[in-house]
Amino acid sequence: MKKSLLLHFIIVCFLVCGCTQTRKSVYIGVSQCSNDDWRVKMNKEIRREAMFYDGVNVEFRSAGDNNAKQTEDIRYFISKGVDLLIVAPNEADAITPAVEAAYDAGIPVILVDRKISSEKYTAFLGGDNYSIGKDAGEFIAGKLPGRGTVLEIAGLKGSSPVVERHNGFLAAMDARPDIKILSEYTDWTPCNAASIMDSLYKKGVKLDAVFAHNDGMAIGALERAKEIGLKGISFVGVDALQGEGVDRVLNGDMDASFIYPTNGDKVMQVAMAILNGEDYPRETVLSSPRVDLSNARVMLLQKEQIDYLDERIESLDGILDEYLEQYSAQRIAFFAIAAIVFLIAVMLVVVIRAYWKANSLNMQLRAQARELEEQRDKMLALTKQLEEATNAKLTFYTNVSHDFRTPLTLISDPVETLLEEGNLNEKQHSLLKLVNKNVKILLRLVNQILDFRTYESGKMDLKLSNINFRDSLGEWCGNFDSLAKKKHIHFSFKSEDADNWNTDLDAEKIERVFFNLVSNAFKFTPENGTIVVNLSRGKSDDGKDAAILKVMDNGSGMSANNLAHIFDMFYKIDVTHSGSGIGLALTKAFVELHGGTLTVKSEEGKGSCFTVLLPLSNALYEDKEASAPAKISAVAIDAELEDVNNPLERKDNESVVLIIDDNKDIREYVASVLKDDYTIIEAADGQAGLKMAMKYVPDAIICDVMMPVMDGLECCRRLKSEMQTSHIPVMMLTACTMDEQRVSGYETGADSYISKPFSSRLLQVRLKNLIDNRRRLREFFGDNTKLAKEQVSDLDKDFITKFRALLEENLHDSEISVEDLGEKMGLGRVQLYRKVKSLTNYSPVELLRIARLKRASSLLSSSDKTVSEVCYEVGFSSPSYFSKCYKEYYGENPTSLQKRRG
Ligand code: FRU
Repeated sequence: MKKSLLLHFIIVCFLVCGCTQTRKSVYIGVSQCSNDDWRVKMNKEIRREAMFYDGVNVEFRSAGDNNAKQTEDIRYFISKGVDLLIVAPNEADAITPAVEAAYDAGIPVILVDRKISSEKYTAFLGGDNYSIGKDAGEFIAGKLPGRGTVLEIAGLKGSSPVVERHNGFLAAMDARPDIKILSEYTDWTPCNAASIMDSLYKKGVKLDAVFAHNDGMAIGALERAKEIGLKGISFVGVDALQGEGVDRVLNGDMDASFIYPTNGDKVMQVAMAILNGEDYPRETVLSSPRVDLSNARVMLLQKEQIDYLDERIESLDGILDEYLEQYSAQRIAFFAIAAIVFLIAVMLVVVIRAYWKANSLNMQLRAQARELEEQRDKMLALTKQLEEATNAKLTFYTNVSHDFRTPLTLISDPVETLLEEGNLNEKQHSLLKLVNKNVKILLRLVNQILDFRTYESGKMDLKLSNINFRDSLGEWCGNFDSLAKKKHIHFSFKSEDADNWNTDLDAEKIERVFFNLVSNAFKFTPENGTIVVNLSRGKSDDGKDAAILKVMDNGSGMSANNLAHIFDMFYKIDVTHSGSGIGLALTKAFVELHGGTLTVKSEEGKGSCFTVLLPLSNALYEDKEASAPAKISAVAIDAELEDVNNPLERKDNESVVLIIDDNKDIREYVASVLKDDYTIIEAADGQAGLKMAMKYVPDAIICDVMMPVMDGLECCRRLKSEMQTSHIPVMMLTACTMDEQRVSGYETGADSYISKPFSSRLLQVRLKNLIDNRRRLREFFGDNTKLAKEQVSDLDKDFITKFRALLEENLHDSEISVEDLGEKMGLGRVQLYRKVKSLTNYSPVELLRIARLKRASSLLSSSDKTVSEVCYEVGFSSPSYFSKCYKEYYGENPTSLQKRRG
C-alpha cells in the first residue's frame, strides 16, 4: 500500500517535470535551392521566428542550385518524418515530384519564393515577380529616349521568378517597339553575368541599359562594363540587399533595385498556423517596392534600425534562454526537494508506525514475559515443593534406613556368632541361616540407599588401593561357581593376557559393581543359559589405558524402553524379580566415581551385555607419597606417655579400651565383643568420655559420632589437642555412612572409622591393628630391644634397624626421595613402600617425617638453635610447614617448647 503510493508520487513527479521540459516538439525541414546572401537572410529570419515558439526544431539544407541534390534533401526530410516542409524549389519541373511525394505523405509543404508545376503544396509565400519585371521595364524605359538596347540577364530558366519577371519585363516593353530587348539566361551568378557582358561587347553590341534578375548579376555586369570602359549604361537589379544592391544604388553604380522580400518570419508564422490547425493564407504575394536614389538612404537607415532591433531580440532571446534554463533547473530542484520531503514524510510515517507497532509488540512481549515469569515462579515454587517433598521423602528413607542399621547389626552379629558356635541342631541352624540371609539382604538394601544418598550429595570418597584387577575378578567369579552349578548356568571368566593388571581401585566398591552385574545376569538367565565375564584392555575417551569388563548373558534381555531407564534410581525392569531398583543406579555411580563408564546393550529374548570401562591407574603411591602428611600425628605415640600413672587395674597387663556411646545397647554389645581381650571402660557422652580418657589414659577409644552433650567429633578433637590424650588412637563409630561424618571425623584427628552395622570380627581386627600399629611405631623409634619381645622375624628386625639408621643419616636432606631410600635399601620404590607399610603401617615418607620431628624436638629442647635453624637442620624446606607438622604431631608449636624450656 505504502509502496504503491510512493511509486505513484514518483511517477507524477517525473510527469510534471517532463511536461515542463518537453511540450510537444515540432520538427520543421527547410530545403533551400541555394546558399547565397538572400537565402542566408531568409534562413536567419525563419530561425529567429522559431524562437518565439516552444519546442520548434528547424533543420536547414541547401541544394547549391542543384536539382538532384534538392530532391535528395526533400526525400531525407520525408524519411525523418518532419512535421512540416518549407521548400524553395530550384527549378519548378525538376523539384515538383519530390514536393508532391512529401505532400502525398501527409506532410504540409510551404513553397517560398519559387513555385512548382503542381498544386500539391499547402501554402505559398513569395514576391510579385511579374510586377518586379514590369516595374523594372517601366523604369528603364523611362530612362531611355524612346529607343535603345536593353539587356535582360535572367536567372535559371526553369525557376518560376525568372519566368514571371521576364514576362512582366516584356509586357512593359511591348508598347516601346524602338527599344530592343536582348534576353540572356544564366545561373544567378555575377561571373556568368560578366561573361555575357564580355561576349556582347565583343560582338559590338552597344547597350543602354541592363536589367539583371538579381543584384549579384547586375553588379557582375556593371563591374565588367567598368573594366571594359563602357559608360552610360543604366543598371537595374533585384533583391535590394544591404551591402549589395542598396549600397550600389546609393553610390550611383546602379539606378535601381527591387526589394525582393525574404520574409522568413512570415513563412514561420504560416507554418505554425498550419501546424496548430489555425487559419492561414494559401497564397501570400509580397510586394516588392523599388529602391532608387530617392529612397535608398532611408531604406538603409531603416534596415540598420531593423538589424539593431534584431540583435537586441537575439540578445533578449539569449537572456530568456538563460532564465528558462534557470527556471527549469529550479523547477527540477523544486520537484526533487518536494519528492525528498514527501519521501521523508512517508518514511517518518513508516517509522512512527513501526515504532508504535514495536511499542505495542513490546508491551505484549512484556505482558507475556510477566506471564512467563509468573509461570516460571509458580513452576519454581512447585519444583521447590517437589524437591522438598522428594528430599523429605529421601531424608525419611535415609533416616529410616539409618535407624534400621543399628537393630539390624544387633540382629546380624549375634546370629553370626550363634551360627559360628555350632551347638545348634539342624533345624535351628537352617532357621538361623534364613534369618542371617534376610538380615544381610536388608542390610545390603539399607546400605545401598545410604550409599546412593552419599553419592548424590557428592560426598562419596574412594578408598583406593592398588590391586591386581584380573586376580580379584577371578576371585570374585569363584563366589558364583556354586550358584552357577545350582542353576545349571554355564558361567565362565575370560581374560586377555596382559603383563600387568595392577590398578588403583576402591576394591570394595568395584566388587559391589561386579556382584551387582553378575547377580543381575543370574537373575535374568534361565537354566542352561550362559554368562560370560570378560576382561580386556582398551582406551577411555580421553585416550587413557582402560580395563574393559563385560558381563554378558543370553538371558531374557530388555526392551528398548527398559534400556532407557535401566540406570534410573528405583527403576525395576519387572515386578516379578526381586530387588529395590537402586542396584544398577548405584553400580553406575560407583563406576563413574572411578572416572569410568557403565553401558549396556540388550535385545529382548537374546540377552544383555553390560560393559564397564575403568581407566587404569597406578598413581596411588605417587599420590600418597606426594600428599600432605596424613593425620599420623594423632596415632603417633609419645614414648613419654608410656609412663603415665594409670590407676586402672588392668587384667594381665591388658590394653584398656574406652567406649563412648550414648546407646547403652551398642556400648554393651561392643563391650561384650571386646571384653575377653581388653579392659573396658565406658562413657555415655563425649564430655564424660573426655574426662575418663584424661583420667585413665586408655590404649584406644571407640567413640560414637552422634551423642548428646558433646558429640563424638568434638570429643575426638579435644582428645587430640590434650597432651595427655593426643596419642590415644580413636576409632569413630557411627550408624551413619554419610561420608561427611567420616571426613569430619578425620579432620578432628580420628585414626579409624567403622560404620554400623559392623561385624564384631571387623571391630576386633581394626582395634587390634590400631593398638599394634601404635606399639610398632613406638618401638620403631624407641628402644630397639623391645622389638625382640614382639613376633618380628630377625630379617625384619634387621631391616627396621637398617632403615631407621638410614633415616637418621638422611633426615637433614630435604631433597631425599623414596626412590633414594629404596635404592639405598636395595629395593624398588614400591617394594620399599610395601615392606615398610606392612611392618609399621606407615609409609616411608611418613616415617621420615616423624623421625625429623623427633630429631627437631630433641634439638629444640637441648640446644639454643632457633626454630628456623632446627627446621632446616632436620630437612624441612619451609619453617611454616615444619611448624604445621610439628603442631600436628606434638599438639603444640615448636616455639611453645622453647618457651617452656626457657
Ligand atoms: C536568390 C535569388 C534572388 C532572386 C531569387 C529568385 O537565390 O537568386 O537573387 O531574386 O532568387 O528566386
